[in-house]
Amino acid sequence: RRLVVLISGSGSNLQALIDALNTSELPNTSIVLVVSNRKAAYGLQRAASAVPAIPTYYQALQPFLKQNPDKSRADYDREVARVVRRANPDVVVLAGWMHVFGDGFLEEMETADDGSGDGAPAPKRIPVINLHPALPGAFDGTHAIDRAYDAFQRGEITHSGVMVHHVVKEVDRGEPVLIRVVNMHHGEDKDAFEKRVHETEWKVIVEATRKVLDKIHPPPLQ
Ligand code: GRF
Repeated sequence: RRLVVLISGSGSNLQALIDALNTSELPNTSIVLVVSNRKAAYGLQRAASAVPAIPTYYQALQPFLKQNPDKSRADYDREVARVVRRANPDVVVLAGWMHVFGDGFLEEMETADDGSGDGAPAPKRIPVINLHPALPGAFDGTHAIDRAYDAFQRGEITHSGVMVHHVVKEVDRGEPVLIRVVNMHHGEDKDAFEKRVHETEWKVIVEATRKVLDKIHPPPLQ
């Protein structure tokens, strides 16, 4: 089973997936490509130093627009989608991907070519899933961990969580694949809370990816 993983930062969730490849957590699975929208993303190093090394592709929005003044953000999204599709993934995982795709990307994933070469867009839809460090609808968008911590300090919430959901056009919406609650404790500092959230993410990203892959390629009956 083939994964493409999109990152923007340190790639600790990518690392969790790499470490799970071909173990009982993610059997018969490879990461065929890692895409980053930031050159400095440490996750690119993690891909390059994986064994076997994982091919990487980097393309940032601003340089793309500067080098192609006639092109738009939608063109950028389509360019990224083309690179992703060419890798022929079963599932696309957004793991700390900090760029909001427009409709163009998802449309490309909806009509992915099945590689038969007959040019007809096959109905094969490539599922795109996204990791978000909050509960559905709680803290959509960026800095979710900070916002959850501050809301807890204000007594507005009693717990937070982590989820992986199918990507749809509204940011951080879409049908959840897996949700896991993260308890919160008075007196715990933000760093300690954030560490627990990330540790939960590393587990959830693997379990959620497994769940979506198994729906497409059910594991051989034991
Ligand atoms: C994670 O918290 C992810 O949910 C958020 O950004 C962070 C990325 O971490 N979008 P990493 O790059 O996987 O270490």
